[in-house]
Amino acid sequence: MSRLIFDKVIGDPMNRVDGRMKVTGAAKYSAEYALPGLVHGVIISSTIAKGRIKAIDSKAALSAPGVLAVISHENAIKVPGFADNEHPTEPPTGGQPLRAFYDNKVYSNGQPVAMVVADTLERARYAARLVKIQYNEDKHKTDFDTNKAQSVLPSQAKKNPKSPLADYTRGVKDGYKTAPVKLELEYIQPTEVHNPMELQAITAFWEAEDKLTVYDKVQGTKPTQQAFAKEWKLPVQNVRVISEFVGGAFGNGLHNWPHETAAIIAAKMLDRPIRLMLTREQMFFMVGYRPYTWQKIGIGASPDGKILGITHESIGQTSSYEEFTESTLQQTRMMYTSPNVSTVYRLLPLDVSTPIWMRGPGEATGAFALESAMDEIAFALNIDPVEFRLMNHTDTDPDKKLPWSTKYLKECIQTGAEKIGWKDRALKPGTVRSGEWLIGFGMGVGTFGAHRGAAAVRAKLMANGSILFQSAVTDIGPGTGTAMVQIASEHIGIPPEKITFQLGNSDFPQAPNQGGSAIVATVGSAVVAACTHIKEKLLTMAAASEKRFTGVKMEDVLFDKGELSLAKSPSVKMSYIDILKKQKLTELDIIQDSKPGEEGSKYSKYSFSVHFVKVMVHPVTGRVKVDKVVSCIDAGTIINKKTAANQIIGGVTGGIGMALQEAAVMDHRFGRYVTKDFADYHVPVHADVPKVEVYFTDKPDYIVDPMGTKGLGEIAIIGVAPAIANAVFNATGKRIRELPITPDKLI
Ligand code: MOS
Repeated sequence: MSRLIFDKVIGDPMNRVDGRMKVTGAAKYSAEYALPGLVHGVIISSTIAKGRIKAIDSKAALSAPGVLAVISHENAIKVPGFADNEHPTEPPTGGQPLRAFYDNKVYSNGQPVAMVVADTLERARYAARLVKIQYNEDKHKTDFDTNKAQSVLPSQAKKNPKSPLADYTRGVKDGYKTAPVKLELEYIQPTEVHNPMELQAITAFWEAEDKLTVYDKVQGTKPTQQAFAKEWKLPVQNVRVISEFVGGAFGNGLHNWPHETAAIIAAKMLDRPIRLMLTREQMFFMVGYRPYTWQKIGIGASPDGKILGITHESIGQTSSYEEFTESTLQQTRMMYTSPNVSTVYRLLPLDVSTPIWMRGPGEATGAFALESAMDEIAFALNIDPVEFRLMNHTDTDPDKKLPWSTKYLKECIQTGAEKIGWKDRALKPGTVRSGEWLIGFGMGVGTFGAHRGAAAVRAKLMANGSILFQSAVTDIGPGTGTAMVQIASEHIGIPPEKITFQLGNSDFPQAPNQGGSAIVATVGSAVVAACTHIKEKLLTMAAASEKRFTGVKMEDVLFDKGELSLAKSPSVKMSYIDILKKQKLTELDIIQDSKPGEEGSKYSKYSFSVHFVKVMVHPVTGRVKVDKVVSCIDAGTIINKKTAANQIIGGVTGGIGMALQEAAVMDHRFGRYVTKDFADYHVPVHADVPKVEVYFTDKPDYIVDPMGTKGLGEIAIIGVAPAIANAVFNATGKRIRELPITPDKLI
C-alpha cells in the first residue's frame, strides 16, 4: 500500500523485516540459547559500599542440591588481561573498569563479589542466599551534595587542554555578568537508570582452551570481541560474539561489565556453557546509569532579546575507579548566537558503580539546563520563548566557526509551534484553564552530532537474483536490518523481499557499536558502497556477453528490478540472474568497506529536534498530564518513516520519564539504592504517554553520507524534559529545576 504513497523504497514505512520473529518469539535473545550441558549462574552483590571482604563462607551453598561452584576472588582463575590494566586508561571510559573477582576490595554497594553456579537457575538462586560474606567496612562517600566541593577536572582534559572536556571560553569569560538582564540558575538531574525490557544477559562457553564464544547482550559485537580478546589474551579471531537480537539497551550495552567476565570465568573453570541473566534489581547498579549531575547556568541578554553571554557549569558523578564523561556542555557552545560562552566540566568520583551513556547522553542532561534557562530568561524579558529562540538562531556554527552541513531548525520550530497550537499559549503563567486543570505549553530544542564512522559489509548476490548482506552491527531496537534492506534495495535495484540483512555476529565484517545515533550513516554508507561495487562488476560482466554494454559508463545504466539496462534505450537489458549464469557463477561475493571522506571536515554536522508539549496540571494534587507532544525532526533523509517515527515516540517516552518520573534514590547511610524495581522506580506506561505527532523535514544532508541521513536516536529524547518543565511553568508559574517534576514539588 505504502508504495502508492512513496515512489521510492527509501522513505517507505515498510514493516520491520524481523518484526514477525520478534512478536512470535522466534527471535533468540542472549539468555535463550539452550546449549548442551548448560549451567546457571547467579551473582552475589556486595552489601557494603566500601571496604574489603573479610571472609566468604560457602559451605552451606556448596552442599545445597545441584550446586557446582561458588566463585569469588578466593578461588577464581586469573584473568590474564587483568594484570595489564593496573594503570589507566582503557576505553570506553578513563580509568580501570572493575575486575570481576580480582581481589577483596569493594568499591560500591552492589558490586559483584561472588557467583553461584548450579544445574538450574532456581537452585543457583537458592544457594546464593546461603553464602555468608563478612566485610571490613570503610567509611564511604556516596552523597553528591555533601561531596560536591571535591569535584575534579577529568584527566583527559588535564592531559589535553584542547579536549572538548577542558574549560572553554568564547569571547569574554563569564560575559553574561555584565548583561543588562541576567539570571543564575542551578539544575539537578538525578541518577536515571536504563530499563530496557531485556535484562542484561550472557551465555558463555569455551569451545576450546583458547576459543571463547559468547551470546551477549551488547551494543557492538566487534568492540566486545576486542575487549574479551584483550582481557583473555586471545587472538581476536578466537573470540566470537553473537548478539543477534537485543531487547533495548539505551546505552548500557556500550561497556562490558563485570558480570560478563564473571560468566566467562565460570565457564572456563567448569568447562561448561553458562547462562547468566541479571535481575531487575541488579540492573540498577551493575550496568551503568545516567549520572547524577549538578549544573549551573548564568545567562545574560539585552532587553530586546539578544543573548550576550552564557556560562554553563556541570559536575557529573562517576565511580572511584573509572572516569565516565559525557558531552553535557557541547550544545551550549554551538546552539545560540551568544558572543560570550564559557563552559566548565567537572567530575565527582564517589563510592558508586560507574555510570554509562544513556540515550541522548550528556546532551539530554545539558539540554534540560540550557533549554530551561532559555525559557527562564525569555520570561524575564517578557518575550515569547519561540520568538526568543528564533531571534538568537545562528546560521553558522559559532563554536567551530564552520557552516552547518544542513540545518532546518527554524523550519522545525515554526512547524512545531503551529502543530501544537502555540497561539493558544498565554505569556503569563497560570492563566489558562480547562475545567479543574491548568494548561501550559512549552518547548525545548535538541541537538546531537551527526556522526559517521568506518564500517564494512559483505554482499553476496545469488544465482536466483536474491542478495545477502552481513555486518557485525547490532540492532538494539531502531530497526537497523529494515533500514539497511531499504538502502540496499534502492541502490542495488532488487526488491526488499529478495534482500536479507544479517547482523549481530562478530564473524561478519567490521561495524562500530550501535551508539551515538551513527549506525545508519556508518553501515548504510558501506551498504551503498557494496551495492556500487556489485553494480560495477555486473556491468563489466554484462559487457563480456552483450556488446551494447561495452564501454558504457555506470551513469548511463539503470539498475532496477534485478535488471541492468541502458538509460537511453531501456530495451537493451540483462537480468542479474542471466549475467551470473553467462559467467557460470553461483554467486558474486564481495566485502566492501567505507569511511567518511575529507569533505565533511569543512562543515559542522548536527541533527536537530524541537519538542513542543502541552501539559495539564492539577492544582490540588500536583499531577502533571502530558496532553500532547509534537516533535519536529531535522535528521536528513528518513529511510523508513514508520521505524523513524517509532524511534522518536520512544525517545519522547523516555523524555516524559526523565521529566516526570525517573530517579534512582540512594540511602546514603548504606550507599545503596532504595529504588530497585518498577514499584519504586517509575517509568512511563501507556497511560502516561499521549499522542505524539512526529514531523520530519526529510531534507537530505549529503555532507554526512551518501544517503543524506543524520542520526535521530538521541535527538528523540534531547529537549523533551525541558519542554515539559517549561510547560509546567507556563501552566503553574512554578519553576522546577530538579528532576523529576513529581506532584510534591507542585503543591
Ligand atoms: Mo546510545 S546512549 O549512544 O546507546
